[in-house]
Amino acid sequence: MTDDTAVPQSILVDDIGSLVTNDPSRGRGVVGEVEEAALVIEQGRVAWSGPRSQAPAADARVDAAGRCVLPGFVDSHSHIVFAGDRSREFAARMSGLAYSAGGIHTTVEATRKASDSALLSGARTLLREARSQGTTTLEVKSGYGLTVADERRSLEIARRITDEVTFLGAHVVAPEYADDPDGYVDLVSGPMLDSCAPLSRWIDVFCERGAFDEQASRRVLAAGRERGLLLRVHGNQLGEGPGVRLAVEMGAASVDHCTYLAPEDIEALAEAAARPEPTVATLLPGVDFSTRQSYPNARKLIDAGARVALASDCNPGSCFTSSLAFCIAVAVRDTGMTPDEAVWAATAGGALALRRDDVGHLAPGARADLILLEAPNHLYLAYRPGVPQVAAVWKDGELVAGSPDNGA
Ligand code: NIG
Ligand code: FE
Repeated sequence: MTDDTAVPQSILVDDIGSLVTNDPSRGRGVVGEVEEAALVIEQGRVAWSGPRSQAPAADARVDAAGRCVLPGFVDSHSHIVFAGDRSREFAARMSGLAYSAGGIHTTVEATRKASDSALLSGARTLLREARSQGTTTLEVKSGYGLTVADERRSLEIARRITDEVTFLGAHVVAPEYADDPDGYVDLVSGPMLDSCAPLSRWIDVFCERGAFDEQASRRVLAAGRERGLLLRVHGNQLGEGPGVRLAVEMGAASVDHCTYLAPEDIEALAEAAARPEPTVATLLPGVDFSTRQSYPNARKLIDAGARVALASDCNPGSCFTSSLAFCIAVAVRDTGMTPDEAVWAATAGGALALRRDDVGHLAPGARADLILLEAPNHLYLAYRPGVPQVAAVWKDGELVAGSPDNGA
C-alpha cells in the first residue's frame, strides 16, 4: 500500500501453508486443498485463489505465515433465541435420565417471560461466540415462543443477527393446546404462519414422537411452501420415523439429526442427492454427544451417495455448543467421517443445506468468509479436539474476530 490511511482495494493473503478451497478442480481431494497458496480479497469477495507463485499483486498483504486458511463454517442449524438455563437437565441426563422433547417447554416458559433486549443480547453473545470460533454463516430458528406474538418476536430478533431465519412454530405443541394438538397445527399453519412467513426464509417442523406426526408435519410444511417458504425438517433424532422420507418427498433442503435411519431412509437420501436441489442429511453429532445417544452412521450415508452436512444445533436443551470444530472432531471420531469429509460438511455441506453457492468455498466469486487456523492444515481441527485454533476470521472480507498477527 502506498498511502497508509487509504482503505486497501485488494488484500493478498499470502504464504498460506494449506488452503481449503472446497473446489476439487483446484486442488487435492474433496476439499480441493492447495499447498503453498495465496488468496486475494476484493470488495468482500474472493477475487483470486491458487498457488502463491502465481498470485497477482494487491494493495495490501496479510501474512498467513505457513498456516491453514479454510472457508468460514456454515452452521445451518441453531436455536439461539432463548432465555433460561437447562444445565441441571444436562447433568440429570449424564446421571442416566433420557432426553425427551418435553424439555423444550422449560425454555418456552423462560423465553416468553424474557424482555426483547434480553433475548437479543443473549443471541448476540452466542453469535459472537460462534464467530470467534470460525462460523461466518449461521441459521437461526424460532421455536421457543409458540404463540403468534412470541414466535414473531423471536423471528424479529433472529433477523437482526442473520439472513438465514427459520420459522419453527412446529417445535412442540404449545402448552395451551396440550388437549387440542390439531388446534395447534391449525394455528401454526394458519394465523401464526401468516404473521411469521414475511420474517422468514425457511419453515421447519420437529417430526418426531412427542412432537408432530407425519400428517401434522406434512400440513405445516405444505402451508409454509404455499407462503413461499423453503423447507427443512428435524427428523429421526430419537428413533426411526417418517421425518427423512417426508423431507425427501417434499423437496426439503435438509433433514437434520438423522441419528436413526432405516435402509429406506438412506436410499431416499441417496436418490435425493442426485437432484439439482438435493435434500441434505445434516448430522448434529453434538446432540448425540450431549444426550448420550448413539451416533448417526455418516460412513453409510456418504458411501450410499447422500450429501452430508454438519451443524451445531446450538440450543439450551439437547446441545449447548456453538463450536463447529468440536462437531467436526466428534463426527470424525464417532460417525465414520474422514477429516476431509467432516471439514467439507461443516463448510460446503452447510452451504448446500442452506441452498447457498456464495459461501462454503473459496473459489473466485465466493464471499471472502475465511478462517485462519493456528495450524498447518485443516486436519488439525479433528486432530486437536478442544483446542482453540482459530487465529482470525474474516466475513465479507472484513476481519471480524482475532488477528492474523502470530506474534512472529
Ligand atoms: O434440535 N429436536 C428438537 N429441537 C432441538 C432441541 C430443543 C431443546 O431441547 O430445547 C434439537 O435438538
Ligand atoms: Fe434443532
